[in-house]
Amino acid sequence: MSVSIILQAILVKSCEGNMKRMCREDECIIQRMSVIDEIKARLDIVDLISESVSLRRSGKNYIGFCPFHSNTRTPAFVVFPESGTWRCFGQCNEGGDLFAFVMKKEGVDFSQALQILAQKAGVTLKPPTPQEAVEQEEHARYRFLLEDAVTFYRHQLLNTEAGKQALEYLRGRGLRDDTLEAFGIGYAPNRWDALLQHFAAKGVEMQDLLQVGLLSEGQEGRLHDRFRHRIMIPIRDERGGLAGFGARILDPNDVPKFLNSPQTPLFDKGRLLYGLDRARRAIREADQVVLVEGYLDVIALHQAGFCNVVSPMGTALTEQQLFLLKRFTKRLVLALDADAAGEQATLRGLEVARQAMDHSQELFFDSHGLLRFEARLQADIRVATLPPGLDPDEVVQKDPQQWQQLIATAQPIVVHVMETLAAQRDVNDPKQKSEIASHVLPLIREVSNPLERDTYLQRLARLLRVDERSLMSSLAATRKVAQQPKKKKETTASSPTAPAMPLLAQSLLSLEQHILGLLLRFPDLLYRLDRALQEEGLERLSPNDFSSAEHQTLLRLLQESLEQDLLEPLQYVLQHLSLPLLEIADTILEKTEGLQSNPQRLLDDLLRAVLQRRQRNLNQQIDYLRFALQETPQNDPSASQSYQQKMLLLAQTRFKLDKALKKVTSH
Ligand code: UTP
Ligand code: MN
Repeated sequence: MSVSIILQAILVKSCEGNMKRMCREDECIIQRMSVIDEIKARLDIVDLISESVSLRRSGKNYIGFCPFHSNTRTPAFVVFPESGTWRCFGQCNEGGDLFAFVMKKEGVDFSQALQILAQKAGVTLKPPTPQEAVEQEEHARYRFLLEDAVTFYRHQLLNTEAGKQALEYLRGRGLRDDTLEAFGIGYAPNRWDALLQHFAAKGVEMQDLLQVGLLSEGQEGRLHDRFRHRIMIPIRDERGGLAGFGARILDPNDVPKFLNSPQTPLFDKGRLLYGLDRARRAIREADQVVLVEGYLDVIALHQAGFCNVVSPMGTALTEQQLFLLKRFTKRLVLALDADAAGEQATLRGLEVARQAMDHSQELFFDSHGLLRFEARLQADIRVATLPPGLDPDEVVQKDPQQWQQLIATAQPIVVHVMETLAAQRDVNDPKQKSEIASHVLPLIREVSNPLERDTYLQRLARLLRVDERSLMSSLAATRKVAQQPKKKKETTASSPTAPAMPLLAQSLLSLEQHILGLLLRFPDLLYRLDRALQEEGLERLSPNDFSSAEHQTLLRLLQESLEQDLLEPLQYVLQHLSLPLLEIADTILEKTEGLQSNPQRLLDDLLRAVLQRRQRNLNQQIDYLRFALQETPQNDPSASQSYQQKMLLLAQTRFKLDKALKKVTSH
């Protein structure tokens, strides 16, 4: 049974034959789905909840007093940035995602929450214009071509005589075959028409290949392969979508050393960070990202197990790249080679692009820009200086521990700038002293934390062997100049499209989708599920078992649908869903299509999924209680007693859960 058919039937009914309207709403549905995802990806749950709840960090998570019930002594409201969810482990014992938070806080339904959050995220809830629709289709086609090109270049590298040299070169640089495979590294043969012929044989439009930057146009408009006799490095966006290639020479006499895809609808170098698709998880886990200059550095570091590494691909960092990173971590380490780091200590070191790119209007970040960014985001930006003459890939291949050490001892940028300047000049010469001061003081002024600012000031005074007070007065002088009103840069408009959900959240969501898919298809299963749960001494299924507001709403409707007998349950649910949720229901149903309907098998399947989902919640709660116990003051025995009691209850529930899970798994 296709839900789209039901959906259309409902729309036709509600529009009373007004076909035009129906079509328009239909378009809306398709668009809204991605809008929900986009909103979730764009908004930072910690930022948003912080607007109304004061949160403090505890490990990876944030803790505060629950805004939904009167406060007790211990904060019981936890925000989990990794999964984009929150939960109150106190009185209300409820949780969910951003949408659920707004729904509960503002007392609104899902559609209204969508309006509120869309506005916050700067996302418009309009259907795509015909032009946008064409664009979307075009992008999908381009990506497909690029993927095909990856396969072509891989084949050239691995299975052709000409590719041998490239393969030997890569192996000679210490790269393993599985690494080359993971990064999709290939070889472009030394011919003008190898790729061209490959695609021509498939009947691909040459114009498309030109658009996507695989072909170039020579004199007299002749088309030819853009990349020849080069190592091909696919460049993906943060979600893993192919955007273009970086191509390194094999022949040392060729120029340029790296030839990248030109600016195309998919390839915008200033918005991409090489390796981010593979690094994002490690970045979150380490709560730190390391930025290196080269593609090969990223690859070698990943191979050595340092996976929180990305590269801005030779250009200076752009604001867009920084925005992209801030979703994953606010702790950045720039690994600069010794020359670049020293170069006037302006930290333009990441800018080594020897290629005129079409990015003249882009914001490049020098130490000033970085510090402002650091202040604005409350980020922590450090610099690790590499040993002279060595690239990160050489360091890590020689001695992984040295790499680790370098990163661990990275210096705050202000300190880095003052020390490199001091090292380059004579700090006994009064002229040079004041030059250094005039360089560093404006930077110190950018530091947002007053305590840090003082520390840096002291450090500078010591370094220059001058009186701190005289530096203070110079600092005050720079402030006057700096406080002149500056035109504010519009930043949100240029912020990049946000990355997709973290992996953790995805696996959780697909578990929830599976549960709902089964229930939507076989609503009667809910009774049987609840009975089975209760037989194990466990609670019935509740919206609280789900983390996403869409899923919570779906379950509520499903429960309602079983309390009425006017409509078939599924019909009831679909009729009561607003458009964006309908699309989600459709996706969910699609996923459970073609399930066989042996009732016992289905129930077991469902029960297993519910128990697994609950285990995740339970583990979170146990972690939280551990935290609460640690935080309880020693002189408050009643509080710690009550936590211990709760812990005991949780342990009992866990025991029941485990037992029940064992039982269904053995079926
Ligand atoms: P490097 O010249 O340091 O190259 O450029 P590399 O990455 O260390 O390469 P190997 O180790 O010699 O093989 C650093 C980065 O700058 C960009 C590339 O992203 C490169 O990885 N770059 C460099 C260009 O885009 N174009 C160029 O011509 C040179
Ligand atoms: Mn290198």
